[in-house]
Amino acid sequence: MRKPIIAGNWKMFKTVAEATSFFADVKGKAEVEGVESVICAPFTNLPALVEAAKGTSIAIGAQNMHFEESGAFTGEISGAMLKELGVQYVILGHSERRAYFAETDEIVNKKTQAAFKSGLTPIVCVGEKLEEREAGHTKEVCKVQTEAALQGLTAEQAAQTVIAYEPIWAIGTGKSSTATDAEDVIAYIRDVVKGQFGEETAAAVRIQYGGSVKPNNIAEYMAQPNIDGALVGGASLEPASYIALVEGA
Ligand code: G3P
Repeated sequence: MRKPIIAGNWKMFKTVAEATSFFADVKGKAEVEGVESVICAPFTNLPALVEAAKGTSIAIGAQNMHFEESGAFTGEISGAMLKELGVQYVILGHSERRAYFAETDEIVNKKTQAAFKSGLTPIVCVGEKLEEREAGHTKEVCKVQTEAALQGLTAEQAAQTVIAYEPIWAIGTGKSSTATDAEDVIAYIRDVVKGQFGEETAAAVRIQYGGSVKPNNIAEYMAQPNIDGALVGGASLEPASYIALVEGA
């Protein structure tokens, strides 16, 4: 049985003071038996959040990392640095990283491998642009991105990876993919994992939907057999809304 996972992606929002205040509000509430709750925050918030999350079931994640362990990479953070803090998850290959910071499939793959090497669980994002969807290339794009991201992993690592299907046109736009459309693509991504690593891995890997998920539509996604949770931006920023998302899963 795959455990549903709700992950908040705060993007470049919240100071340390705002993050700790948020955490105090969700502690004990965004914690539901049988649901994994993860908050992926800016680097500067991570030490305070890891400290605040001690003794709770909420895991803390980062939103990016470099693929090298150390080196002359000004401004970068390594997996080992995140692991040392007590961070458990790291979002990799988010479409904003791909679009604004030139992250290629090859870079995402290096980061995915480096995350496992550092003992972190990657949440790997895949998803098509609007023009790719309109041209009927959604599945092909997701296949290429998924296969590239997971390349070189062991079947066990692939099974532990969380994949987030985020159609780019649905991010922050209020235009969410319908639950049945998202299910169709996510079932296909599971098939891609099956082709790459076999049936057992495909049955174990958790695949989230992301893109304008809100408390009022989370149930529709969770009702789909292949959707194992959500990666949520805007609606993860308010305590009441984040609690409702975790409860809704
Ligand atoms: O990673 C989550 C994300 O990109 C979706 O953002 O604001 O549409 O939930 P949002």
